[in-house]
Amino acid sequence: MDALYYVTIQFRIAVPTNNAISLIFFASACDYHNVMRRIGGMIMAVVLVLGACDKKEPETPSVKPSERLPSFESLTRGARLYQEHCAQCHGPEAQGHPDWQNPQVIAAPPLNGSGNEWKRSKRELLNIIQNGAKRHGEWAMPAWKGRLSNLEIEDIVTWFQALWPTDVYDRWRKANASSSPSA
Ligand code: HEC
Repeated sequence: MDALYYVTIQFRIAVPTNNAISLIFFASACDYHNVMRRIGGMIMAVVLVLGACDKKEPETPSVKPSERLPSFESLTRGARLYQEHCAQCHGPEAQGHPDWQNPQVIAAPPLNGSGNEWKRSKRELLNIIQNGAKRHGEWAMPAWKGRLSNLEIEDIVTWFQALWPTDVYDRWRKANASSSPSA
């Protein structure tokens, strides 16, 4: 019984290290056939246990393409900076000025996925925020370079992109994946 106990111990060690030599060494020290039969039974038991583990293993949740997983810090920073610097023109919920489609006036467009902003690549969005936009030689959209860091601008984009409806965001993501992989 002592010998068998040793074989059991060795067997457990042997499995993860793939060390079959120590197993045979201990098996030959006692009733070979009896021990081998028991080892056979143990192997079967281990195989069954492993098989059961395989089945029970929970499926790794796959991240769907439409899922956006920005960090909480990035979102809260973006929301705060947006309210501070952008909301007075683009609206507190990034809905845009009511007259944004009127060509007679210069009014800020939506950034919440309901305008044309989602037709721009990430690079284009960052560009216009950094460099602003002029109409008829006048600043329509102020430049933020030097006033906001790249990270702060990224966080603002992250925040307003989180407002985009899933289908809009998916279309934007697909368009960007094919046209400009670096965006
Ligand atoms: C003084 C008002 C004003 C402020 C403040 C302002 N914007 Fe704008 N923004 C505009 C106007 C007006 C346009 C449209 C420019 C044009 O049509 O040429 C615009 C355009 C944009 C666009 C392009 C949208 C599109 O549909 O192509 C983005 C992106 C944008 N702004 C982001 C921001 C962000 C981010 C901030 C804050 C950091 C901000 N804006 C602050 C007035 C403003």
